[in-house]
Amino acid sequence: MYGGPDGELGASLRYLSQRYAMPYPELKALLTDIGTEELGHLEMIGAIIHQLTRNLTDEEVRSCPAFAPYFVDHTTGVYPTAASGFPWNAASIGVKGDVICDLSEDMAAEQKARVTYDNILRLSDDPDVNDVIRFLREREVVHFQRFGEAVRLAKEKMDQKNVYFTNPAFDR
Ligand SMILES: [Fe+2]
Repeated sequence: MYGGPDGELGASLRYLSQRYAMPYPELKALLTDIGTEELGHLEMIGAIIHQLTRNLTDEEVRSCPAFAPYFVDHTTGVYPTAASGFPWNAASIGVKGDVICDLSEDMAAEQKARVTYDNILRLSDDPDVNDVIRFLREREVVHFQRFGEAVRLAKEKMDQKNVYFTNPAFDR
């Protein structure tokens, strides 16, 4: 969740980049608010990774085939990669400059982040880690709700009758 496609770095940059083209001030503020919160989450995840890895012995690194290649490249420095080892890439986030696209992406992104935290909880048996992960997972659920409200607010400003509502930036 530090540098994966659904992680906190991508989340913060997605929202803090989308905010510029968002035409409605309330929604621009929402993107700024949630994007800033995600930066705080990035710091929390970085701290967890640092605390889990800082005192590893060479023997512990050798006995963990999934971590050894990371160790070769970064020792125990905290570097933004996906769990699979792929370095963070802006191609994993979307900024379309369109109200419907961006808010739909944001709702999906929050669900993907929530599922990723679910998967971590399936694998981790460390109670200290899991307490923090459960807190972050809960925040993703809250963000999904807030983006859902944002879609409703955007819809009020567009066309209420349709499922696919009119986008005034394009459908004139
Ligand atoms: Fe989030």
